[in-house]
Amino acid sequence: MTWDPRSLPDLSGRVYLVTGSNAGLGYFASEQLVRAGARVLMSGRHPNRLSAARAAIRRRVPDASPDATEPLILDTSNLGSVRSAAASVRGRGGLDGVLFNAGIVHPPRSRETTIDGHEVVFATNALGHFALGGELLTALAVSAGRMVWVGSMSTALTPYDPVDPQLTTRYSAWRSYVQSKVATAALGFEADRRLRAAGVPVESVVAHPGYSTGGRTPGIVGVNEPSRAKRFRDNLQAAFAQSKEHGAWPLVRALADPEVAGGEFWGPKTGSRGIPTRQNPSKITHDPEVGARMWAFAEAAAGVKWPFAEAAASART
Ligand SMILES: NC(=O)c1ccc[n+]([C@@H]2O[C@H](COP(=O)([O-])OP(=O)(O)OC[C@H]3O[C@@H](n4cnc5c(N)ncnc54)[C@H](OP(=O)(O)O)[C@@H]3O)[C@@H](O)[C@H]2O)c1
Repeated sequence: MTWDPRSLPDLSGRVYLVTGSNAGLGYFASEQLVRAGARVLMSGRHPNRLSAARAAIRRRVPDASPDATEPLILDTSNLGSVRSAAASVRGRGGLDGVLFNAGIVHPPRSRETTIDGHEVVFATNALGHFALGGELLTALAVSAGRMVWVGSMSTALTPYDPVDPQLTTRYSAWRSYVQSKVATAALGFEADRRLRAAGVPVESVVAHPGYSTGGRTPGIVGVNEPSRAKRFRDNLQAAFAQSKEHGAWPLVRALADPEVAGGEFWGPKTGSRGIPTRQNPSKITHDPEVGARMWAFAEAAAGVKWPFAEAAASART
C-alpha cells in the first residue's frame, strides 16, 4: 500500500493517546490523526496548554467532531501522574495506539531529579513511558493496538551505552538526552521481543522525526509561536531541517499504517527530513543485551512489571 502522509486512510472509530500533545511533534501527530477521523486523548502536564492545543485543532480541522479530542493530564516525569492517567484511560476500554512522544529536548545544564528521585531527562523521556506502556498494556491488547516509542538520530551520532542510565556521574546535557533516547529505543525493541514471546497481540515500533524545528513550522497561536530571530536561524538550516508538521509524519505512520510491523524503525527518508520510510536503527539500540539490561533497570526504577500474561488473556476474551 502506498502511504501519503498528507492524506491518511480513514481512522474513524480508532482511539489514540499521544503524550506531550500540546506542542511540537505531539501536537501535529494529534492533528493529523484527528484529520483522519480518529479520536485522540491529548495528554500534557498543563491544562491551559492542552486547551490551547485542542482549540487549535478545532480551528484547523473544522469538520472534526466536537469530541475528537479529549484532554488528559499526564506528567511523564512523575510516576504517580502516569499511574492515575493510565487508570482513567483503562476505564474507557480499548486503545488502538499510544505515541510515547513527550520529551525534554533541551536538558538542564546540571543534573536534576524528579519528585520520585530519578534523573529528570531519563525519567521524562524513557522511564515514564516504560511505566505507561505497562499500565496500558491490557487496554492495548484488547484492541490489538500498537505503541510507538520516539527515538532520535542522535543515537547514531553518539551511541552512548547507558551503563549508568541515571547519570549519577559524568552528567552533561547532551549525554543525558542521547542516553535517554538510546534507552527509549532499546526499550521499544525489547518490548517487541517480549510481546512476541508472550503472544500478546500488541506491536511495539520505534520511530524518529529527523531534525524538525519550530522555526520551520507553521505559526499556531498557543502551540508554535517562534520569534523572528528563531525563524531566521532555523531557515538557515533549510537544507536539512524540516517542520514539526512533517516530522510527525513517520510517528503517525508508525502508529497507524497496517503494513508497519512490530520491531521496525521508521524515520524521514534522508534521515533528517522527508517522507516516512523504514530504516535501520543504530546498533546499540537494537542490541538484545542492552535491551534486556535496560528492561531490568526500568522495572526496578519504575516499580512496574508489564502484565504480559494478563494482557495475552484479555486479548483472547
Ligand atoms: N524535534 C526534533 O528534531 C526531534 C528529533 C529527535 C527526537 N525528537 C523527540 O520528539 C519528541 C518531541 O519533541 P519536540 O521537538 O516536539 O519537542 P517540543 O516541541 O519541546 O515538545 C515537547 C512536548 O513534550 C512535553 N513534555 C515535556 N516534558 C513533559 C513532561 N514531564 N510530561 C509531559 N509532557 C512533557 C512538552 O510539554 P510542555 O509544553 O508542558 O513542556 C511538549 O508538549 C521528544 O521525545 C524528542 O526527544 C525530536
